[in-house]
Amino acid sequence: MDGVIDFWAAKALLEWQIELGADEPIGDLPVNRYEIPAETPKARPAPEPMAPVVIPAVDPVAVAERMAAAARDLDALSEAQRAFDHLDLKKGARNLVFADGIRGARVMVIGEAPGREEDIEGRPFVGKAGQLLDRMFAAIGLSRTAPAPDNAIYITNVLPWRPPANRTPEPAEIAMMLPFLKRHVELAAPDLLVLMGNTPCQAVLGRQGILRLRGQWAEGFGLPVMPMTHPAYLLRQGPAKRDAWSDLLEIRARLQA
Ligand code: URA
Repeated sequence: MDGVIDFWAAKALLEWQIELGADEPIGDLPVNRYEIPAETPKARPAPEPMAPVVIPAVDPVAVAERMAAAARDLDALSEAQRAFDHLDLKKGARNLVFADGIRGARVMVIGEAPGREEDIEGRPFVGKAGQLLDRMFAAIGLSRTAPAPDNAIYITNVLPWRPPANRTPEPAEIAMMLPFLKRHVELAAPDLLVLMGNTPCQAVLGRQGILRLRGQWAEGFGLPVMPMTHPAYLLRQGPAKRDAWSDLLEIRARLQA
């Protein structure tokens, strides 16, 4: 034999090795099957958990304070109120009712909120109650159209938008518009305020009970304040006009003093 085996001998040899239990061919070099490969494929990093989306809570009163404080004059204040979007009454109203009368008047009258006619016209106190209000002030020589500030009144409301079905304003609605009302009084700079009914008493004096408060001078927003019964109440309760007349005389006396 010269070291070369033929096909049949090689086949017989292989079958004999299989018979002995060989089950795989072995190479010339050893293979360490337990070795950790130098470059293991990198596992994808687990995604970061999503940070919760934080929507900053808006404080409408703080927004109103900022907007009111930034208004440098009455026109700017009116525009600031028009741009204020946090009071839902705005959505149901036709117009912003800002003010009427003479800027610079010594007397500033504050009512509750626009009614139907005011909402349509965009001016305060133009319905039946407003006509009575004009007659009441005319009786002591004051009017919303008088050219001289001494004989003039300037009129606004606690809320500039009409509440549905003329319902009474809610405390949260009053609180939201209070910064605008304060700034309104600052910019109008009257000598005294006349508060028509409970809602402006709540806003300016922080208390209600108009039948007890009326006719007594109080102080609000740093000014003398005269609470009176609302003209709409006087339309229903004729006898209360006597007290209202006495309140008007008080106002006239104060202006003349
Ligand atoms: N009542 C108010 O208080 N204000 C108005 O403008 C009209 C009616």
